[in-house]
Amino acid sequence: MPLFDVYPLYDITPVRAKGVHVYDKNRKKYLDLYGGHAVISIGHQHPVYNRRLKKQISRIGFYSNAIQNPLQTQLADEIEVQSGCDGYQLFMCSSGAEANENALKLASFYTGKSKIVAFKNAFHGRTSAAVAATDTPKIIAPLNAQQEVVFLEFGDEEGLEKTLRKEDVCTVIIEAIQGVGGLDMPTQKFMKRIEKLCIEHKACLIADEVQSGFGRSGKFFAFQHYDITPNIISMAKGMGNGFPVGGILVHPKIKPWHGMLGTTFGGNHLACQASLAVLEVLKKKNLITHAATLGDAFMTRAKNIHGVKNVKGRGLMLGLEFDFEVGELRKKLIYEHRIFTGGSSNKNLLRILPPLTIQQKHLSQFFDALQKSL
Ligand SMILES: Cc1ncc(COP(=O)(O)O)c(C=O)c1O
Repeated sequence: MPLFDVYPLYDITPVRAKGVHVYDKNRKKYLDLYGGHAVISIGHQHPVYNRRLKKQISRIGFYSNAIQNPLQTQLADEIEVQSGCDGYQLFMCSSGAEANENALKLASFYTGKSKIVAFKNAFHGRTSAAVAATDTPKIIAPLNAQQEVVFLEFGDEEGLEKTLRKEDVCTVIIEAIQGVGGLDMPTQKFMKRIEKLCIEHKACLIADEVQSGFGRSGKFFAFQHYDITPNIISMAKGMGNGFPVGGILVHPKIKPWHGMLGTTFGGNHLACQASLAVLEVLKKKNLITHAATLGDAFMTRAKNIHGVKNVKGRGLMLGLEFDFEVGELRKKLIYEHRIFTGGSSNKNLLRILPPLTIQQKHLSQFFDALQKSL
């Protein structure tokens, strides 16, 4: 049976990984500066991760959300401590799109309204409302297009105010650092304006932290670079270091009722252990500060490279913009220099999303390879 061919693939077959490296079936070693779409946060095969998952699977791997699972409470408490999001409530699911789908649904339940405000170049996932709020028309099927979504430019305060004044908006959903869209960021002033208008017009502010959360930006959440308080925060990717875990943090003023949200797989024992392992290593190894420090060093070095037009992002969520499309450059980096990097919907932008355990020497290896490839 053929696979449903939706992915353009590199001709590389990884069979093993360790730390910041991936090894293919011919034993070739690759430096992973992409973390499999920003997923690998504490490094491949981290001993704490492996130990926790192995121990858990030997006891109980899964049961549905019809029983007590103290691991979920433990995880919620640890996220609260590390993120500083006091009083928020955790709902767990299994992917980024599912997290956003639940966030959007919750905003609609809470406000009794249905229109969404999202931003140009946003990416929120591929499920019904999440994909409708994604600014990529070719992945929006007619079924998804039934949702009412207004896309605004970052900084369009007037458009935002005009839209919210109609009083039919349930949510403004925003990535504090755009991922797939190409690392653009709103200004502090615009973020504050969004927050204020959401309060005035009774709309929920959703921070999509699926890619930027769990330390990648140099703070636990990227919205924490701004002085705002979202009503709902969506998470996934780095939360499980490869195990499919997602979730939303819900502001204390939003109250749940039984049956409001639900999932079969979300929050299972293995998923909780994967995420607890991530949090344990983030704390023990001080990886969030490390991400901020290495990100700053990367930016300083990148700005001095001839040919780099613009350096974007924060922490270890970075983009290098050129005045040409980077497809060939990525191929050179992967096949000639054995370095994984990422692309984005901005075709001129190379994305760098390494495990947060990356060291300066690995970044130097990348810059040497980049200079040889340009
Ligand atoms: C910001 C953001 N939100 C949501 C998603 C969707 O996550 P998933 O692919 O796990 O459904 C992504 C995936 O790239 C993302 O970057």
